[in-house]
Amino acid sequence: MPHVVLLGGDGIGPEIIAQAERVLDQVNTAFSLGLTTERCLIGGAAIDAHGSPLPDSTLAAASNADAVLLGAVGGPQWDALPMSERPEKGLLQIRSGLNLFANLRPALLYPELASASTLKPEVVSGLDLLIVRELIGGIYFGEPRGIEGAPGQRVGFNTDRYTEAEIERIGRIAFEAAMTRSRRLCSVDKANVLEVTVLWRDVMERLSADYPDVELSHMYVDNAAMQLVRAPKQFDVMVTGNLFGDILSDAAAMLTGSIGMLPSASMNSDHQGLYEPCHGSAPDIAGQDQANPLATILSVAMMLTHSLKAPKAAQAIESAVQTVLASGVRTADIASGSAGEQVVGCQAMGDAVVNALR
Ligand code: IPM
Ligand code: MG
Repeated sequence: MPHVVLLGGDGIGPEIIAQAERVLDQVNTAFSLGLTTERCLIGGAAIDAHGSPLPDSTLAAASNADAVLLGAVGGPQWDALPMSERPEKGLLQIRSGLNLFANLRPALLYPELASASTLKPEVVSGLDLLIVRELIGGIYFGEPRGIEGAPGQRVGFNTDRYTEAEIERIGRIAFEAAMTRSRRLCSVDKANVLEVTVLWRDVMERLSADYPDVELSHMYVDNAAMQLVRAPKQFDVMVTGNLFGDILSDAAAMLTGSIGMLPSASMNSDHQGLYEPCHGSAPDIAGQDQANPLATILSVAMMLTHSLKAPKAAQAIESAVQTVLASGVRTADIASGSAGEQVVGCQAMGDAVVNALR
């Protein structure tokens, strides 16, 4: 039986996971998926209970599951901890422990939310792009790293590093994704300055011979950031390394009106995956029933598509979300103040999606 591990995490994490779990339960019954679920701790919640942001028991449960659904980690109460003990370390460790190298971050603008974007509706309407981010290499994990030296003379350093094999496996994911879409792939690098990305560009060029139907282009990351806010519809699939992907995916998310709408998938080569919203733990609104659960609910849909082989259940969730948005129901982050909108909390948004599924 397919098994899913639920990791609420910190801040708004447990609230949004609770709504996503209701949606998962609903499709589990409606589509007779036979899914079983289990809850485990990660991040600050795990530090408080077990002294570690990723307890061995959580990593073991996640390794044995078909998929993991995660809320968010982090919060001000753990900010003073050293880097290696922070809640974020739990997230980085589970990504790396499960070998989840391929991070898919789609940015899709729902027509109903065009006016919620900070960009002009004509710039973003119809936006549908996919960022493919390498997730377990690059400067996030490269060695050596650290802070060394005597006070006043300390040096901080990190290493940006990719092997050809690491570039090739993420490149293939991106080319394959482009084949299922508009067949345009833009590889983002900084090949005018960084050798590691000269190699990146070289490998992408070599791979493109295997995908003659995909039009490959290259863009420097600074220009890509500018183009994302200037004319984002020029992009179909973008592929990039860990750090550039982190930054560009936040920018892409905001084009859609709210980062509260964007799901993500992180997968290994066995299609085992971790699914999470692109946004963080939002400690400022935690526990106030204000969070938008839709990014997490849409992450459930990605999980059903990519890891649980249940595309019909995934489509049902995606259409339920569309129905709810079309009916005018909004959490505060996606409200534009126009007539016909009904602003609700996290729980009521979950109710609306569950009702639309029935
Ligand atoms: C993300 C987040 C994480 C990252 C943090 C929380 C470690 O920003 O998933 O984009 O930098 O990858
Ligand atoms: Mg980020």
